[in-house]
Amino acid sequence: MTTLVTGGAGYIGAHVVRALEAVGRETVIVDDLSADRAHSPAGPANRIDLASTDAAEALELLMRERGVTSVVHLAARKSVAESVARPAWYFQQNVGGLSTLLLAMERAAVPTLVFSSSAAVYGEAPLEPITEDAPAEPVNPYGDSKLVGERLVRWAVASGALRAASLRYFNVAGTASADLVDTGTANLIPLALGAIARGERPTVFGDDYPTPDGTCVRDYVHVADLAEAHVAVLDALESGREISPVFNVGTGSGSSVREVIERAAAITGLPIEPLHAPRRAGDPPAVVGDVSLIARELGWHARLGLDDMLRSAWDARPAAD
Ligand code: WQD
Repeated sequence: MTTLVTGGAGYIGAHVVRALEAVGRETVIVDDLSADRAHSPAGPANRIDLASTDAAEALELLMRERGVTSVVHLAARKSVAESVARPAWYFQQNVGGLSTLLLAMERAAVPTLVFSSSAAVYGEAPLEPITEDAPAEPVNPYGDSKLVGERLVRWAVASGALRAASLRYFNVAGTASADLVDTGTANLIPLALGAIARGERPTVFGDDYPTPDGTCVRDYVHVADLAEAHVAVLDALESGREISPVFNVGTGSGSSVREVIERAAAITGLPIEPLHAPRRAGDPPAVVGDVSLIARELGWHARLGLDDMLRSAWDARPAAD
């Protein structure tokens, strides 16, 4: 049983590789090595850009050579702001890359796929936890590229050659070990901890939202828990069980920006007085996942909480700097 992990050199992908290997699976990493790191901390990576014209052939060959039996597909562009500026490029990268991967899987007769999707498919979510059957109306090209990806995966399943599920990640944070820490600077937790480490003040974007403390609420999920969800869904797909096509992966409870910063102050032991800035364009007030489906069908639930995410990311900082 060999699992090919696209994007296996990235922050989440490297965690997925480690989780798969921890349960005795062989892994093969494919990555264009463009983001996060110059090499994979999880092992040697095959450098393939899925959106390039010759990628299908290279992938098919690799799948055959290594006896690949399943794929976890994480390789994608993930910046909302960049997707708004370059929509055609985002679809080419994210939808085109997936389409190339599916062609290669078909040719190499690889039957099982886990697709990395995002809570960004929901767009403006209600304040209460959102279920998978809620209308998916993305408000940016990044979220839409993931939704189109989910639909493409469903069509491939309907054609009969594939078993697959899509995982809608909520706000992923923390690290399982220091060498896998998120080196990106796009999200609240790495940004806030980075500011604190430099003796600067973290910024709160908007404090007049219709939420309990006026700041945005998100469902933060530990990357180690998220990685375990991939193992659970792969096991279920390979066992031949019928499972849902899409699962939310979060904790089911939300934390506000103010709460995240307060917990960061408690964990770092540093006095933190955040700066208050205007709302960031396009931020919905609250995005929290209802996670009962994945618990019911796959027996997966998050074990770690916000403090674990903050503490692990903070403790790993010296290794990252
Ligand atoms: C969280 C909250 C900010 C920085 C995006 C994508 C989503 C997923 C994760 C995956 C927001 C606020 C942030 C700061 C702040 N992407 N904030 N000060 O926007 O919920 O989700 O990333 O691939 O699909 O949409 O995550 O971490 O950027 O923001 O106040 O310095 O923190 O306004 O309310 P977001 P985020």
